[in-house]
Amino acid sequence: MKKIWWKEAVGYQIYPRSFQDSNGDGIGDLQGIVQRLDYVKELGIDVIWICPMYQSPNDDNGYDISDYQAIMDDFGTMEDFDTLLSEVHKRDMKLIIDFVPNHTSDEHQWFVESRESKDSPKRDWYIWRDGKKDKSGKTIAEPNNWESIFGGSAWEYDEKTDQYYLHVFSTKQPDVNWENSDARQAIYDQVNYWLDKGIDGFRIDAVSHIKKRKKFPDMPNPKKKKYVSSFDMHMNQKGIQPLLKEFKEKTYGQYDVMTVGEANGVSIDEADLWVGEKKGKMDMIFQFEHLGLWDAETNLQLDIVELKKVLTRWQKGLENNGWNALFIENHDKPRVVSTWGNDDEFWYESATSMAAMYFLMQGTPFIYQGQEIGMTNVQFDSIDDYDDVSAKNLYRIRREDGVPHDDIMRILWASSRDNSRTPMQWSSDEQAGFTTGLPWMKVNPNYKEINVEDQLKDEDSVLSFYKRMIEMKKNNEVFTYGTYDLILDEHHQIYAYTRTLEDEQVVIFTNLSTKDAICDDLDFTLSFDNLMLNNLPVTTHDDTSTIVLKPYEARVYKLS
Ligand code: GLC
Ligand code: CA
Repeated sequence: MKKIWWKEAVGYQIYPRSFQDSNGDGIGDLQGIVQRLDYVKELGIDVIWICPMYQSPNDDNGYDISDYQAIMDDFGTMEDFDTLLSEVHKRDMKLIIDFVPNHTSDEHQWFVESRESKDSPKRDWYIWRDGKKDKSGKTIAEPNNWESIFGGSAWEYDEKTDQYYLHVFSTKQPDVNWENSDARQAIYDQVNYWLDKGIDGFRIDAVSHIKKRKKFPDMPNPKKKKYVSSFDMHMNQKGIQPLLKEFKEKTYGQYDVMTVGEANGVSIDEADLWVGEKKGKMDMIFQFEHLGLWDAETNLQLDIVELKKVLTRWQKGLENNGWNALFIENHDKPRVVSTWGNDDEFWYESATSMAAMYFLMQGTPFIYQGQEIGMTNVQFDSIDDYDDVSAKNLYRIRREDGVPHDDIMRILWASSRDNSRTPMQWSSDEQAGFTTGLPWMKVNPNYKEINVEDQLKDEDSVLSFYKRMIEMKKNNEVFTYGTYDLILDEHHQIYAYTRTLEDEQVVIFTNLSTKDAICDDLDFTLSFDNLMLNNLPVTTHDDTSTIVLKPYEARVYKLS
């Protein structure tokens, strides 16, 4: 297997708005990140991914970009960005930025020109269509019944030209028309601007959505809904590969950088075209099949056997041809300790057991800010305390449908993206040490119990466990390049696997349940002296092929 720096790296995702405020305005910023780089470095991080920091009216917190070559005022200036980049490099880390190719803000100059008139030279840079009309030719409905991912119609009416534009995400995020070569080139120019600046790569936002279904047909609608979830029409569509190929060739393909695409809807069968060593268009993708197993409204209980099937499919599927990006949290998902784990009685145990479960597989692991201290979901009583455009839309639409306030809040408590966007909990000081002012979003009230400062001092903290785990991975190549093999396939409580590299072998056991779990009939013996990592105290034991794991216990043994 080819050895490359990014295969050996540990990634850390920063949501700038909520990481560290440096000037007391309550909003995290680039200088704030600079202040915390030593912390990130000491954790053992090699690559930092920052969510969008470009100029933006913040309808979707920076994912609606109005100028790709300017920095959001809230976050600082281009000079601050240059400082951040050089401070990251000074510490021998890399910086990747979040590039958004699928859409811009409606306030981007390109869109402003596009909406001006039907003959605007940029009209075709976005996706404009006539609505459905009545006999007299009057527009009466959207061009089709597609629902936006953030709720409501995926089309927005524009009075001036009596047409609709497509927005797969919010109304302020019009989709760029990737069929138009001028628009594509304009996007490539933005990407190259950042590459020339010397950044180390990209996380590529929503990249599986750039191609839309030809002719924009209605979704089948047996339940006669007003709008129908429309992923089948704009996610991983036929014909996307040539677009991705050109994207790569005209931009990052020319540079020694790393790329990780956000690739919702891509299955292992097509992974070769996305990340295969020869045919791939990017180095890694974030796939979502495993996170899809959990759902706030229908599927609260994690099915461990299913989880093993999904992740093993990806591990074995990319073996010797491609590379996984490993993650269990990001800024779009609730906190994993509150969903898959148990943020109550087994908070520490489940945070660390989940960690060992995903982190030691083959791939480049990413940690989302706060995950390393076991930050949890939050429960605000009022919708006013929520910020996320999709949470607000969900609340508004369900209220219109007559759903009681309390029922909607219960859904948001479990699933809102804001669960992972509350300010980083640095200390037990006021506002968790995030800001000296009033934070843009309320701090999770549990910051006195869960914060970095306390956990740095405590050898038995979630943070200390992460540090030990990262160090162990770095000191033993088997955790990077070793082959993954699932064991105890049908066990309903335990996720366990081996990693093998030539004559070296290790085994990772994680109990993901709230009950004791027995592993017996193992094909090998475990010796106490070979215990490499554990989240709970382990008493000396004889060589054995049977162990009992306490609730959410995790252990790693060397086998040879
Ligand atoms: C991605 C981002 C998410 C954003 C969306 C639209 O899914 O991770 O935060 O809202 O794309 O850009
Ligand atoms: Ca600030």
